[in-house]
Amino acid sequence: MKNIVLIGFMGTGKTCVGQILARVMGWPFLDLDEEVERSIGMSIAEYFERYGEDAFRDREQEAVEKVAAQSPLVLSTGGGVVLRQINVDRLKETGILVCLSASVQEILARTSGDALRPLLNRPDRVEAIQELLTARMPRYRLADIWVETDGKSAEETVEVVLRRLQKEGWWNGNDSSELGREKL
Ligand code: S3P
Repeated sequence: MKNIVLIGFMGTGKTCVGQILARVMGWPFLDLDEEVERSIGMSIAEYFERYGEDAFRDREQEAVEKVAAQSPLVLSTGGGVVLRQINVDRLKETGILVCLSASVQEILARTSGDALRPLLNRPDRVEAIQELLTARMPRYRLADIWVETDGKSAEETVEVVLRRLQKEGWWNGNDSSELGREKL
C-alpha cells in the first residue's frame, strides 16, 4: 500500500487534514516538520535563524529519506519539501502525492499572527506569499492529486481527498460517507 503524502503551501491545512485523514483511514500519521524538529532538537524557526534555509533543507531531506521508507503512513510535509527533486522522487516512490491548494487571501488568513514560519516573516506578507507561491507552483503541480481547500473545512477537504483516492483506485477502505457520521 502506498503512503498518502500531503504537500502544498504553508497554511493550506496539511497537518490538520492529514491527522483527520489518518484517523478515518485507520493509518498512522506523521508530520515531517515534527520529525525534523525531533532530529535537530529545536524549533524550525530557531534552526533557520541559526543555520539558514540550506541547512534546514538538508535536514528536511534526511527526514524524507527516513520516513519515506515507512508504510503505510499519512504524511504531512513542509511547504518547501518539493523544492528538491530528490525529495519528490523519494516520496513518489513510496507514496501518492496529494497537493492541498489555497488562494493567497486564504493563506494569509490562515497564517496571520503566526511567527513560526520564517519564510513569511517579512514586512509585506502578501507579497511574500505571492512570490513564493508563484515560484513554487510548478513544483506543486507534480502532485498526483490536486485539491482546492478555499471555503472548505478540514473535514470537507478530507472527504474530497478520500473520494479522489477511491476514484483513482488508490484507496478502497472505509466508505468516505462514514465521515459525516463520525464525530470529527
Ligand atoms: C516551509 C514550510 C514550513 C516549514 C518551514 C519551511 C516552506 O512548513 O517546513 O518553515 O518552505 O514552505 P508548513 O508548510 O507546515 O508551514
